Amino acid sequence: MWNNFPVIKQEITAFEEYLEKKVTSRNSFLKTASREAVLSGGKRLRPAFAVIAALHGDYDRKRTFPAAAAVEILHAATLVHDDIIDEAKIRRGRMTISEKHNTNLAVYTGDYLLTRSLRLLLETGLKPEKLEILARSISLLCEGEVEQYLGKYKIASVYQYLKRILSKTGILFSASMILGAKTANLPDDIARRFGRFGMSFGAAFQIRDDIKDLLSEQSAEGKPVLNDLKEGIATLPVIMAVKNNPEFLKEVTDYFGGKGDIKYILQGIRASNGIEDAEKLKNRYVEKCRAIIKEIPRTQYTDALSEIAEWL
Ligand code: IPE
Ligand code: IPE
Ligand code: MG
Ligand code: MG
Repeated sequence: MWNNFPVIKQEITAFEEYLEKKVTSRNSFLKTASREAVLSGGKRLRPAFAVIAALHGDYDRKRTFPAAAAVEILHAATLVHDDIIDEAKIRRGRMTISEKHNTNLAVYTGDYLLTRSLRLLLETGLKPEKLEILARSISLLCEGEVEQYLGKYKIASVYQYLKRILSKTGILFSASMILGAKTANLPDDIARRFGRFGMSFGAAFQIRDDIKDLLSEQSAEGKPVLNDLKEGIATLPVIMAVKNNPEFLKEVTDYFGGKGDIKYILQGIRASNGIEDAEKLKNRYVEKCRAIIKEIPRTQYTDALSEIAEWL
């Protein structure tokens, strides 16, 4: 992923070794399950973002790695809980914790990871007001997830959808960059710009994920497909399709009500330009990313942000 950026690649390799040592427990079940959840081949995008932001300042692994690990472990915790709620059976090509063990143990595993994350945060040496960033992120993330859950089987407005994805996904990319920047002594205004990049990146990333859930023939990135619709979640392509063609609403509500075939819903989404329009909105966030990059004092690492934004 970071082939053009050897320093970032090297730091992520070193980070992986660091993370490996940090995920453990005296309890053998929690040790196994938390290692399964964290060390199962995630892309490590959030840690990479913390490292990239930090490389713009006085980079020091000893301060940045704990922050990156805190965010990555928090991310793993949210995925363990998310897979319970979404009834997802696979993640990263492997059985999810809830599927392999059971829901109750998956709840504990997620909670345990959350506490590990908070303890790592204390190792960053950051001031309490900076630590609050992660606490606030967790609150926002929960709010985003609950809003989505309570909105099941309904069609949200584009505004509501964007608000949800910014809080459930944008926030962790944003926190990762702000914390990374602060561990490298960057001033608050620069840290905030990285934070805004993370938010926009996260929004585009989630839209991309939501499109992929509808488009992939089989499991993409080792995750189930068509899971959002099956779970009653109308993501952006569905929202756009209904917006373009109000008659399509009945088909979607029928499907959510247990009538109709998912095949027709997919056809309907395409016929009403749902995918195309979702892509367009995703590209607006990519555009925002590009604009924010220009506001960040340029170093040899800034290009990595441009490259990752184009990957979206
Ligand atoms: C998955 O995030 C959850 C979403 C926000 C779509 P990632 O795609 O970063 O997950 P891993 O860690 O690489 O598996
Ligand atoms: C990811 O949401 C969960 C969080 C961002 C907390 P999704 O449910 O869309 O992600 P995947 O597709 O399961 O990875
Ligand atoms: Mg999910
Ligand atoms: Mg998804």
